Amino acid sequence: MILAMIVAVDEQNGIGKDGDQLAYISSDLKRFKELTTGHTILMGRKTFEALPKGALPKRRNIVITHQKDYKAPGAEVVKSIGEAIAICSDDQKVFVIGGGEVYKAFLPEADELYITQIHHTFDNVDVFFPEYKGLGWKETHREDNLHDEKSGFTFSYVNLKSAGRFDCV
Ligand SMILES: NC(=O)c1ccc[n+]([C@@H]2O[C@H](COP(=O)([O-])OP(=O)(O)OC[C@H]3O[C@@H](n4cnc5c(N)ncnc54)[C@H](OP(=O)(O)O)[C@@H]3O)[C@@H](O)[C@H]2O)c1
Repeated sequence: MILAMIVAVDEQNGIGKDGDQLAYISSDLKRFKELTTGHTILMGRKTFEALPKGALPKRRNIVITHQKDYKAPGAEVVKSIGEAIAICSDDQKVFVIGGGEVYKAFLPEADELYITQIHHTFDNVDVFFPEYKGLGWKETHREDNLHDEKSGFTFSYVNLKSAGRFDCV
C-alpha cells in the first residue's frame, strides 16, 4: 500500500480557516478528482463533516475520529492511525485528504506528497500543513506558473516522494 497525502497550501503552509479551504481552484479540484478516483481517501472527522455532499463518490471513504459509535454515511469509520492503516493494507493507494490534525498524524507514515502550492499568503489562517521540508523528501514532479482565471491565483503542482521509498524502487 502506498500512503499519499494530497493538499493545497499557501506560502506559509496554511490550509484552512474557519473550517473551510483557503481557495477553490477548479483545475486543482479536477486534478484532485482524477488522482483520487478509484482509490481510498482517508480524512479527519472535521474534514468529512465539511464535505458539501458527504462521502466522495467512486472512492473508498474512511473517516478517523475518537468518538464511539460515530456514523459517517458512505464512509467507514476508524478510531486510530493503526486501525486506519490496518484496514487499508490491501489497497493499492490511500490518499490522506486532510485536515491539519490528520496530516500531522499521518505524515511520518507517508510515502508521497501531492502539494498544490498557491502563491499567495492568506489572512487569518487557522490550520496549517505540518513542516515537511528538509525531512528527506525528493521532488519527482513540478508544474509551475499555473494560473486560475476565476480567482486570479497562480499556483504550482509539486509531487514529492519520501527518500526512504525512493531508495527502495
Ligand atoms: N487545503 C487543503 O488541502 C485542505 C484539505 C482538507 C482540509 N482542509 C482544511 O483543514 C481544516 C480542518 O482540519 P482540522 O485539523 O481542523 O480537522 P481534521 O484533521 O479534518 O479533523 C480532526 C478530527 O479528526 C479526528 N482525529 C484526528 N486525528 C486522530 C487520531 N489520531 N485518532 C482518532 N481521531 C483523530 C478527531 O475527530 P473527533 O474530534 O471526532 O475525535 C479530530 O477532531 C478545515 O479548515 C479544512 O477546510 C484543507
